[in-house]
Amino acid sequence: MSELNLVLLGPPGSGKGTQGERLQEDFHLPYYATGDILRAAVREESELGRKAKEYMDRGDLVPDQVIIGVIVERVCGGEAADGFILDGFPRTVAQAEALDAELERIGRRLTAAILIDVPDDEVLRRLGGRRTCVKNGHIFHVEFDPPKNEGICDICGAALVVRDDDKPEVIKHRLEQYHELTEPLVPLYEAHGRLRRLDGKLPPDEVSDRIRALLATLRMEEEL
Ligand code: AP5
Repeated sequence: MSELNLVLLGPPGSGKGTQGERLQEDFHLPYYATGDILRAAVREESELGRKAKEYMDRGDLVPDQVIIGVIVERVCGGEAADGFILDGFPRTVAQAEALDAELERIGRRLTAAILIDVPDDEVLRRLGGRRTCVKNGHIFHVEFDPPKNEGICDICGAALVVRDDDKPEVIKHRLEQYHELTEPLVPLYEAHGRLRRLDGKLPPDEVSDRIRALLATLRMEEEL
């Protein structure tokens, strides 16, 4: 496969970030997680961060015109020439159309949109126990993936915190936004033959194994 252009799709807490980190290690491709990019912009108090903060705090999606340019610029830049892993983008039909149009313009296409499927009750359990590293965004869970030392990131030693938008009322709103605005991408990518669906309720290692197997199959199909 000459290039691997992947989108990770799924509700909040489905494990996109967990799997994105692993895929990045496996394939050494640029990994663009829109939530991480936006949270870094908020911390830096940049113009992007100022525009995004109030939406993120409420659990609303930031407007398409704020986020589309940020991602399109990265995906079409030289560092993504061998492919990319997108986590959290696209999240609306308009974003998906903008991504497709831009990829077509540069003679490329999406390899697959991987849907990590998890029901709402599991999302609530997971996000309630998530702990995120303040420095580099590494992800843990108090029950399912605990750090060796409580409150400290295994990887970089920074403090682990509860994300501002992981409060129960905000999680519920993020889920509503997912069902209303992002779920329509599932039939869209299905119609384009790009959707690959995975059971996200399985343990993280099993989900990783299935994604690796899926990508190996896609690679074989491409070589036939
Ligand atoms: P973003 O940061 O992208 O949040 P999200 O999509 O809601 O996803 P999460 O990061 O909450 O979850 P995840 O799927 O990555 O799960 P994780 O691996 O952490 O976006 C935040 C905000 O930014 C949005 O609300 C919006 O305002 C804005 N935004 C971002 N992109 C945008 C866009 N394109 N357009 C407009 N606005 C945008 O796992 C969750 C927990 O479960 C962890 O604790 C983990 O350890 C655990 N876990 C993971 N996998 C498993 C497993 N298999 N079994 C058990 N536990 C597991």
